[in-house]
Amino acid sequence: MLMRTQSRSSTIASETGGIALQNLQKRYGAFTAVDQVSLSVAPGEFISLLGPSGSGKTTTLMMIAGFEMPSSGKVLVDGKDITYLPPHRRELGVIFQNYALFPHMTTAENVAYPLRMRGMAKAEIETRVRRILDQVHLGALASRYPHQMSGGQQQRVAIARALVFDPPVLLLDEPLGALDRKLREHLRNEIKTLHKEVAKTMIYVTHDQDEALAMSDRVAVMHEGQIRQVSAPQDIYRRPEDLFVAGFVGEVNLVPVKLSSGSIVGPAGENLSAAQCPKGDGDATLCVRPENLHIETATREVSAGIKGHITGTTFVGDATIFELRTEAGLHLTSKVLNITQPKTLPAVGDACIATWHPQDATVLTK
Ligand SMILES: Nc1ncnc2c1ncn2[C@@H]1O[C@H](COP(=O)(O)OP(=O)(O)O)[C@@H](O)[C@H]1O
Ligand SMILES: [Mg+2]
Repeated sequence: MLMRTQSRSSTIASETGGIALQNLQKRYGAFTAVDQVSLSVAPGEFISLLGPSGSGKTTTLMMIAGFEMPSSGKVLVDGKDITYLPPHRRELGVIFQNYALFPHMTTAENVAYPLRMRGMAKAEIETRVRRILDQVHLGALASRYPHQMSGGQQQRVAIARALVFDPPVLLLDEPLGALDRKLREHLRNEIKTLHKEVAKTMIYVTHDQDEALAMSDRVAVMHEGQIRQVSAPQDIYRRPEDLFVAGFVGEVNLVPVKLSSGSIVGPAGENLSAAQCPKGDGDATLCVRPENLHIETATREVSAGIKGHITGTTFVGDATIFELRTEAGLHLTSKVLNITQPKTLPAVGDACIATWHPQDATVLTK
């Protein structure tokens, strides 16, 4: 009983804020910015839209917020079609990359603004503003103006302003994009903690893979207006379903292979292995992350692996990066953590062999 009480108080379950995007499309003339995007977001879920610049993330978010009208498709919140509802009637909190605070208003006035717009009584506004400012640790800065605060503090004000009217859904467009790396990491933990406390659905747009992997329940990877994969962070990284996703999220070695009667044949005729491999014969690509590519001096025969020569090593602090060139002329990268000094690591010019555990390799045909 005790445990149940505890878990309930640490994370509030949310029942509202479920979102469904159905075949959402946005065309600008002949150009398709968002192409048949379908996505279901559960109440209280934290989902990221991750993709390079121009992949359609902001346009998708703005169609959810109501600042852009889709060319076709639907946006539903808790089953209700809101596709053509104006933004102020959607009850969605929106946070933009460039803060968009009112420069002539203090923190407290900025945060009070959405409540004033809704005609709330003054005493109630004051209570609510104080409560939300405490929650985002801004109580001491209530009477400061935006120009008197750092970027991180301003962005906290923007978050408070989006949360103050208690919307079930928060939309965040690269909210940490303008901040330096240390502050970004700090604030992303704060947003994550806040997400647990307020139990709101959050849709978080970013081009930063680390941010998406670290914060999200699920990540939707976008490319050229399309969602290429929606999965939990571990699966996005370990089980990419498409070559774009494999290459965009983290570093990856891509080995062109031929699938033939259940075998995976490398570019120099090597026998290779992968736990995830589609059925059928033909050309494909084997993906293996640098940290999963193990190298050793070529002193023994192995049943599955690629032979080559070390062409370079780079010390990067926590790890050393080994570059190798295979017999077929392919360039591969192995990342070896500098924990202890392994005995058999080859040096530049040495013949070596690269291997991996089959469960760390994925073969893709697209
Ligand atoms: N108003 C517009 N008119 C024409 N093209 C646009 C407009 N808004 C966005 N685009 C184009 O749509 C694509 C997606 O843009 P956007 O959603 O902002 O991408 P992201 O947020 O992923 O960087 C880009 O190629 C962009 O140039
Ligand atoms: Mg954008």
